Amino acid sequence: MVDTFFEGAQAAGAETKTIYMKDLSVGFCRGCFSCWTVTPGRCIQKDDMDMVLAEMGQSDAVIWATPLYHYGMTAMLKAALERTLPLVDPHMVKEGDTYGHPVRNGDRLYPKTLLFSNCGFPEIHHFDGLISQFDCLFRGRDEGLAEVVLRPAGGLLSVPVPELQEQIRWYYDALKRAGEEFVSQGRISSEVCETLKKDFMPTDSFVSMVNSHWDRCLKGKKCP
Ligand SMILES: Cc1cc2nc3c(=O)[nH]c(=O)nc-3n(C[C@H](O)[C@H](O)[C@H](O)COP(=O)(O)O)c2cc1C
Repeated sequence: MVDTFFEGAQAAGAETKTIYMKDLSVGFCRGCFSCWTVTPGRCIQKDDMDMVLAEMGQSDAVIWATPLYHYGMTAMLKAALERTLPLVDPHMVKEGDTYGHPVRNGDRLYPKTLLFSNCGFPEIHHFDGLISQFDCLFRGRDEGLAEVVLRPAGGLLSVPVPELQEQIRWYYDALKRAGEEFVSQGRISSEVCETLKKDFMPTDSFVSMVNSHWDRCLKGKKCP
């Protein structure tokens, strides 16, 4: 999803960079609050999170992308998200209708935030918990959560069957257009958003296809 969105973004002139958490060494937040007290703005752990924060600081926009795991983001992404704590100041201040921590970096607030996720089940409501968490996190910051791209039945994106991929070509086209629009117009048009929300196939057909797939795997057949 991100690769295809980036193709569109690059066509519109953006420079993009993908950072895979699986390739990095990022320790868990220890909850020591040293980044608020002993070394304000800096974590005492020295690992790849320094690079991630530096990249974020230079970016106009950041896409947090994750498959849905247990109704939320992956543990790897959550570890990185928690390690953004040095970016905020410890004080509690009123931000709109709620209290929050002010961003340290004066005028240069967080980059624009986007959330991309895909999940196994075919219904959109499986993302409710994830969306709710991101809404809380980025509420009141710059433009809040700028764009959210969610893909239920997302497993279909990685099925290596050319006919199936051809059937959902329209989805990749829409992702690419979304990337172009985001860079050239600062937002994804409602028309493209609507296309991105369309089902890949009727839910019954999808579920029986998935269940047959697992049955074949359980019988020891090669799983695609
Ligand atoms: C540990 C684990 C937890 C998962 N939890 C959910 C879930 O809560 N809801 C869901 O719809 N799919 C869940 N899935 C399925 C993945 O979201 C789905 O396979 C997704 O398409 C994987 O995306 P990827 O190919 O980008 O890794 C889970 C998968 C794993 C491995």
